[in-house]
Amino acid sequence: MRVQLSQVGRNFGAVQALAPVDLDIAEGEFIAIVGPSGCGKSTLLRIIAGLLPASGGQVLVGGRARSGPVTELGIVFQQPVLLDWRSALGNVLFQVEMRGERPGVWKDRALALLDQVGLRDFAGAYPHALSGGMRQRVAIARALLHDPSLLLMDEPFGALDALTREQMRIDLEALWLRRRSTVLFVTHSVDEAVLLADRVVVMSPRPGRIERVIDIDIPRPRGLRARRDPEFLRIETEITEIFLARGVLARGAV
Ligand SMILES: Nc1ncnc2c1ncn2[C@@H]1O[C@H](COP(=O)(O)OP(=O)(O)OP(=O)(O)O)[C@@H](O)[C@H]1O
Ligand SMILES: [Mg+2]
Repeated sequence: MRVQLSQVGRNFGAVQALAPVDLDIAEGEFIAIVGPSGCGKSTLLRIIAGLLPASGGQVLVGGRARSGPVTELGIVFQQPVLLDWRSALGNVLFQVEMRGERPGVWKDRALALLDQVGLRDFAGAYPHALSGGMRQRVAIARALLHDPSLLLMDEPFGALDALTREQMRIDLEALWLRRRSTVLFVTHSVDEAVLLADRVVVMSPRPGRIERVIDIDIPRPRGLRARRDPEFLRIETEITEIFLARGVLARGAV
């Protein structure tokens, strides 16, 4: 689903969280957004999801202005929001039940997704019995249940251990190559952004502006070996230079 932003910004009282940004995301494109803490990445995602009004500008999703939350999307929040009184499976199936659809038909798919995120044996477990990374994976499975044409992911792998994170990166690329939905993926990791995205949007410190948009022309499937591609290193260095120039990283850091 195409997403077009023109002059979309957001203030919270006197705080300008997001300076007006322009961005045109093509149908089926994988976009990563990197930027320092507090630069408005989550704010931007919430605006696109229709969960937060912009202070100005226009948002078109699938060519249309929305009124209220967009329903054809999957969203993974920075902090997984799970219902404590529902099992992992119950959480994945929650929306289906809310929409009055029969969960039975969706159950196999939900179980397959839990299996895919490595939670086969935890479908019946309740959130209190899951680790932070496991909860985040339940939230990812939930976002994928409807096979959404727009997927918004806010630091989805932030709570995962390093090895699971690597595996989830590979899985997400494979999944995306099969489905080619439009993905907006927020991350603090430059490495992860370059590994996954067609284009990386680099944001400046607050008030967040789009500092640069970088095309990643590394062939797919990239797996993890793309890190050894000279282009990978070149782009990673380019982004690091931007953060150095903006004072996000201190000179001594590299
Ligand atoms: N509901 C709110 N009320 C007031 N200020 C807010 C609200 N939500 C966000 N902000 C402010 O807007 C700015 C951007 O916040 P946002 O959560 O979008 O940052 P972020 O880029 O996602 O940061 P992080 O990488 O730490 O998650 C911050 O200064 C934050 O304090
Ligand atoms: Mg955030």
